[in-house]
Amino acid sequence: MIRTKIAGIGKYLPQQVMTNDDLVKYMDTTDEWIRERTGIRERRFAQRTGETTATMGIEASRMAMQNANTNPKEIDFVIFATLSPDYYFPGCGVLVQRELGMKEIGALDIRNQCSGFVYALSVADQFIKTGMYKNILVIGSEKHSFGLDMSTRGRNISVIFGDGAGAVVVQPTELEDQGILSTHLHSDGRSAELLAMYNPGTHANHWTREKLADFNEAEVADMFMSKEMVEKSQNFPNMDGPAVFKMAAIKFPEVIREALDKNGFQVSDIDLLVPHQANLRISQFLESQLGLKGRVYNNIQRYGNTTAASIPIGLCEAWEEGRVKRGDLICLASFGSGFTWGSILLKW
Ligand code: UT7
Repeated sequence: MIRTKIAGIGKYLPQQVMTNDDLVKYMDTTDEWIRERTGIRERRFAQRTGETTATMGIEASRMAMQNANTNPKEIDFVIFATLSPDYYFPGCGVLVQRELGMKEIGALDIRNQCSGFVYALSVADQFIKTGMYKNILVIGSEKHSFGLDMSTRGRNISVIFGDGAGAVVVQPTELEDQGILSTHLHSDGRSAELLAMYNPGTHANHWTREKLADFNEAEVADMFMSKEMVEKSQNFPNMDGPAVFKMAAIKFPEVIREALDKNGFQVSDIDLLVPHQANLRISQFLESQLGLKGRVYNNIQRYGNTTAASIPIGLCEAWEEGRVKRGDLICLASFGSGFTWGSILLKW
């Protein structure tokens, strides 16, 4: 039976550290509030120019390929998950393909926000299991810092996010005790607007024959980004934090149990849970609700919420620290905007 193994893992964190006290210079917040509500002490911000979502993803990919003992020419598919792409289009996948001098392979972009990496790895798993590809590069990368409302108006969301990237190379294995056992993906679009960046977006305005007849340059610009949109902060991410928190607390345990049940395991069998780093309080809730004491990996304190990058960064650090060993049962789980959520159970 062919399964998908993680053959190599990598990460990249920008050097620039932004502490909670640094944020106080921009908005009405305090180190104490941020630590108490989220657990975050600091996060990384990429350089304003030169360092992008794609370049960070590429650095993480280099490390993952090196650890997998492979190189760009051997990669036969790229999957890139992000909500903060370099360009509105094309996606970051092709930028990786170009920069790393890869063959003319497929490059797929995934936009499932905090669940981006779980979705991306699940897609890679299907391609490996069917035998379609043998060496897939899966990347999660975010440059949130370019698009956060750093005024007090945006403080409930801007203090949470940080920049960074993680990547894995996945390959087939026929070993009994290694590889992805199952993946579980979910969504509920009824809450799509509770955590969203509304503009620019095609919902905002649309052409009509009458409008075309009455062509007006200012109006055209307004369709893409109007003064009203900016005044309502709709060009930045918006979030109903408590509503997201409440649903995360339900869906995280549910989807972790789903993965365990599918494979006939108990919570006690998990060696390490690497959850999406949304809020330390959510991770602590999971740890106590599921009875996972000491078996939940957290680094949100140092990096904030890096959305699609948080799971591969966490998994990479856990591996570097020796907390992930060959044969260990590892659970990855995510919840976020969409809402989308998911889990992956694997043997390292
Ligand atoms: O990864 C994607 C998924 N996202 C998440 O999982 C996030 C889930 N939600 C959360 O983590 C939490 O809801 C937050 C950390 C975002 C907010 O914590 P909260 O305990 O839910 O606070 P709140 O939004 O209910 O706000 C409580 C108070 C409000 O003031 P009033 O109305 O009580 O006077 C806010 O205006 O805290 C205020 N507040 C702040 N104060 C200082 C909101 N943000 C800040 C801030 N600094 N940064």
